[in-house]
Amino acid sequence: MKNEINDPSSQGTGRVQKIIREYGQRKWGLIPLLQRVQEEIGYIPKEAVEPIAESLRLFPSQVQGVISFYSQFSTEPRGRNIIRVCRGTACHVRGGRTILKVVQQNLGIQEGKTTEDLRYTLETVACLGTCFLAPVMMVNRSYFGKLVPPKVQSIIRQYE
Ligand code: FES
Repeated sequence: MKNEINDPSSQGTGRVQKIIREYGQRKWGLIPLLQRVQEEIGYIPKEAVEPIAESLRLFPSQVQGVISFYSQFSTEPRGRNIIRVCRGTACHVRGGRTILKVVQQNLGIQEGKTTEDLRYTLETVACLGTCFLAPVMMVNRSYFGKLVPPKVQSIIRQYE
């Protein structure tokens, strides 16, 4: 079955136009509008940049600039599970790089990428704010700390 949320052919610009119409009435700013599109569709389709810019009387390059600046926004479909591996100093000195490698090998993708089945997106972050648990990663909203490679594999399996 096709994943409608992440299928550009089914969501296309139609859903974006609907969101723009709703938000146009409220005169909301660019960031809330982008957040709404991403929430609804799972990412911000490239074809959505122009209609969004038009609706807010901005240049498409301005919209694109904001999307690129904020890491919360993505123009690529994202996985149903977001894995964030910490690359901060506390995690680094406790084997964070190895943890990242194990995650990459398990998923078969590099950081910033999404698996083809749209099950996982892998990101790295500067610090997850739980340095006492180093090395740490997050899957969606759950923290996993004091990681060692075998633990990483079993955590990923939980989200299959
Ligand atoms: S450095 Fe990894 S959680 Fe802070």
